[in-house]
Amino acid sequence: MHNKKNLAILAENFAVIHKSCFGSPSAFFSSSFILSLIQNPNVKFINEGQKGFCLVRRSDEEAEIITMAVKPEFQQQGVGYSMLRKAILLLSKTNCEQIFLEVASDNIAGIKLYSKAGFHSCGIRKNYYHISNHEIVDAITMTKNLVK
Ligand SMILES: CC(C)(COP(=O)(O)OP(=O)(O)OC[C@H]1O[C@@H](n2cnc3c(N)ncnc32)[C@H](O)[C@@H]1OP(=O)(O)O)[C@@H](O)C(=O)NCCC(=O)NCCS
Repeated sequence: MHNKKNLAILAENFAVIHKSCFGSPSAFFSSSFILSLIQNPNVKFINEGQKGFCLVRRSDEEAEIITMAVKPEFQQQGVGYSMLRKAILLLSKTNCEQIFLEVASDNIAGIKLYSKAGFHSCGIRKNYYHISNHEIVDAITMTKNLVK
């Protein structure tokens, strides 16, 4: 069980990692936003300490990967794939049947990671991510059915 103080520390840690991955202030999650997420009983997290984290939100038979991030110095060492596998395993032990996520259309690493874990593209959300006034990027929606 995580008490209030532990969750606040975790949120701070996750926010540092998120900022190191998503440099733009419009893209990274603040610690207060992350805290509000992880205080929600429907939100589960995979915590890899200083290396990375993954947040998942459940809603009956569906779930979404809210975000995941691996600190740059730990990337391309299997941490992201391992966290994603843990998140999928966690959800497969519930009544969840389908997982969704959004990933920026220019995020090659993210798209490849999710494809490797069995997600496939199911739609495009035009102009979804406002990185800055000059940079707006589409989101690709991806999904994975959980075999029961
Ligand atoms: C996307 C991210 C989570 C991947 O984490 P990671 O620990 O580096 O990934 P892994 O080492 O586990 O790699 C798993 C697969 O992802 C893909 N991948 C990871 N990094 C990649 C890169 N730089 N370029 C291309 N493909 C990449 C590959 O398919 C890889 O499998 P392979 O090693 O068999 O080729 C990480 O790059 C990251 O945190 N990026 C910034 C935040 C982000 O984009 N989050 C996801 C969208 S919300």
